[in-house]
Amino acid sequence: NKAVTIPSLNAMRAAGTKISMLTCYDASFASLMDRVGVDILLIGDSLGMVCAGHQSTLPVTMADMVYHTASVARGNKNAMVMADMPFGSYGTPEAAFNNAVQLIQAGAHMVKLEGGAWLADTIRFLTDRAVPVCAHLGLTPQSVHQMGGYKVQGKTIESAERLKADVLVVAEAGAAIVLLEAIPTGLGKEVTEMLAIPTIGIGAGPDCSGQVLVMHDMLGVFPGRKAKFVKNFMDGQTSIEAAVTAYVDAVRDGSFPAPEHCF
Ligand code: KIV
Ligand code: NA
Repeated sequence: NKAVTIPSLNAMRAAGTKISMLTCYDASFASLMDRVGVDILLIGDSLGMVCAGHQSTLPVTMADMVYHTASVARGNKNAMVMADMPFGSYGTPEAAFNNAVQLIQAGAHMVKLEGGAWLADTIRFLTDRAVPVCAHLGLTPQSVHQMGGYKVQGKTIESAERLKADVLVVAEAGAAIVLLEAIPTGLGKEVTEMLAIPTIGIGAGPDCSGQVLVMHDMLGVFPGRKAKFVKNFMDGQTSIEAAVTAYVDAVRDGSFPAPEHCF
């Protein structure tokens, strides 16, 4: 196993080799996922929901993210470690940089922020200062109160056009990866074809450069409602390692996501 880097992810995208990504919150799962060959481990602010039991990601703090990022980094060898910047931690470029530094010093290789064009200055500010950025667009859970719930985005022509414009702005600002959540399959394909950098989808169709799921969801641990884009990879498996392997294989060979997981 070789270290996963931004150049190696770009090479995978160029070769059409699908990128596999899972959320991960602790050292033990990081070690397992790394060993099995998951390309990117995301310390998602979803930890506020799946680990801490909150109703949304909004209560998650920088201290929470630093603790879990350091835990994952200690368990990992070769995967790329990506950490979410929590709600309220990137309101200005300076604040974003100071908080991103904490995550990088905890062991993250890249930070993820939710938003489009309004983030251009912040993305440029971070990338100019050697902090790689993943831009998360489409359904952005930190905007739950503005969206009025967790809803598929980009369904109308106007909102699809706005998403595409946002994607071009964040890519131009220096984003290394674009993450697309809960958008129609055709829009995921269009956005991926527009860009030279990788796209990672969750409910964004099979044409993205890679896929991500929340670890608990793909292991069949969901106290709440199962989202359409989730597949339980524990089905038919007798170990977590086998389930994670099945996920990596299914992303690689394009069998996940299937049409029933897409919008
Ligand atoms: O926090 C998270 O788990 C995420 C993924 C759903 C992409 O941001
Ligand atoms: Na997140």
